[in-house]
Amino acid sequence: MRTTVAGPRHFLLGLMLLLPAFGGAASAQGQESRAQDTQAQRQQVQPGNNAPVWREVRSGKEEYTSVKGRETGVLIQTQGETWRKLRNGPITFYGGWLVVLALITIGVFYKGRGPIGLHSPPTGKMIERFSSFERITHWTMAISFCILAVTGLVMLFGKHVLMPLIGHTLFSWLAELGKFLHNFTGPVFMFSIVVFAVTFMRDNLPRACDFIWLIKAGGVISGEVVPAGRFNAGEKIWFWGGVIGLGIVSSASGLVLDFHNFDQTRSVMMVAIVVHVIAALWFIVWAFTHIYLGTVGTTGAYEGMRNGYVDETWAREHAQYWYEDIKAGRRALPSGAPAASAATTAPQAQH
Ligand code: HEM
Repeated sequence: MRTTVAGPRHFLLGLMLLLPAFGGAASAQGQESRAQDTQAQRQQVQPGNNAPVWREVRSGKEEYTSVKGRETGVLIQTQGETWRKLRNGPITFYGGWLVVLALITIGVFYKGRGPIGLHSPPTGKMIERFSSFERITHWTMAISFCILAVTGLVMLFGKHVLMPLIGHTLFSWLAELGKFLHNFTGPVFMFSIVVFAVTFMRDNLPRACDFIWLIKAGGVISGEVVPAGRFNAGEKIWFWGGVIGLGIVSSASGLVLDFHNFDQTRSVMMVAIVVHVIAALWFIVWAFTHIYLGTVGTTGAYEGMRNGYVDETWAREHAQYWYEDIKAGRRALPSGAPAASAATTAPQAQH
């Protein structure tokens, strides 16, 4: 008859199987020492296998650390892996296609429709459209936005688009520089939004004519001239939804990320990044449309924002009620000058 003697290996395995039976009653200290025991046992059975330790670490349980602060005792937060997959997966993939499709759509629209031109010939008489202060406000916001957009896109897509082209070293310098620029330009952009909102709020309040403008889609398809106030309904939607709405969402989430020393937890940071990236991508795509309409898409619009003056025909066709108010002396020019000087030729230096 053959007899088997249970060796230390079998004994340890048996002990490990029995351990959970005592789990319910064990104190936190007991659990900790049991984890250490388990690890010690595992080392004897399978030297080099640290699974019990990593299981403990990945549980997200707070351990002891002398570093003060929230979650400083949590070594690994496993939800981070789920977040990483979301950020590098669907967000990057669909976000990338959103940007590409927006550019293609604008290109196709430009090819098919062409720029929105004037119906009547220009008069040669210029009228002030934006004061210097208004233009400085707009360009501060626009330039800071473009810096944020470019550096943000590099951070999100650079690894897939730029790195294969320029290599690891150059890309890492570019990404580092982009990150600094992004972090410091963010607050400038936020400040410019506040000044912009206060400056242009009055002329963006909804009016009855905006609904008619919307129903007629601004005459973009039919080609008719649809009267509007200083800004049309499309611009007002951009003002409220884009600049104010998306501006607040991207700024608030950006502040959470910029000042991470305010004791926010890692989950708060993860949610903030997802919100920030989604809001910023919509903001960028919407801004493409605005930049298109503000440059090649509408004849004469860019000159108005660059020099401050537009032709009277432009003013009558794009902002009829505003133009009539100025001509009738019901409101002052943007710079505050009396309406009597409304019809003028733009200062030579500005052309
Ligand atoms: C960088 C390129 C940009 C160009 C070429 C551009 C061009 C223009 C032009 C020509 C106008 C005047 C339109 C008119 O006379 O009615 C305008 C107005 C405006 N722009 Fe821009 N823009 C740019 C970027 C931006 C950005 C990035 C934002 C927002 C983040 C922005 C927000 C606005 C708003 C809100 C208005 C006034 C419309 C209103 O208040 O309703 N622009 N822009």
